[in-house]
Amino acid sequence: MIAIGCDHAGVEMKKAIIEALSLQGFEFMDMGTDGEPCDYPDVAASLCNEILAGHCEKGILICGTGIGMSIAANKFKGIRAALCSDSFSTRFTRLHNDANVMCMGARTLGQGLAIELAEIFLTTSFEGGRHQRRLDLITAIENKE
Ligand code: RB5
Repeated sequence: MIAIGCDHAGVEMKKAIIEALSLQGFEFMDMGTDGEPCDYPDVAASLCNEILAGHCEKGILICGTGIGMSIAANKFKGIRAALCSDSFSTRFTRLHNDANVMCMGARTLGQGLAIELAEIFLTTSFEGGRHQRRLDLITAIENKE
């Protein structure tokens, strides 16, 4: 199950991603908003809590730039949120960072690109190995704060 959420800026992009990737068999838990103006940190919090509770394996967050969502999501212990706008970074944030949330900007990306990036994010596996040690160092920072 993939959690997906947006603020009012990202509603159309969210719908386009759900429509395109449902056809490929992905199942989505829609965390809103359906169109009502809302505050992006609230949506980021609901989505991150679903992931941390183990109800969803990954999440996709969309706001105007993707920046607010990524700042908010990265406040949660255990969430590794990546702002994605190109295919190389999107692939490598899965391979090397094991990012569990991707953030995108509805006002900075076209819908076709956003769908392609979401597909890369959802189909690329973490490489592990030396990269796990680096994630463990991030976890150690989280536990010290
Ligand atoms: C909302 O207007 C806008 O601030 C928000 O979507 C986002 O871009 C914040 O980072």
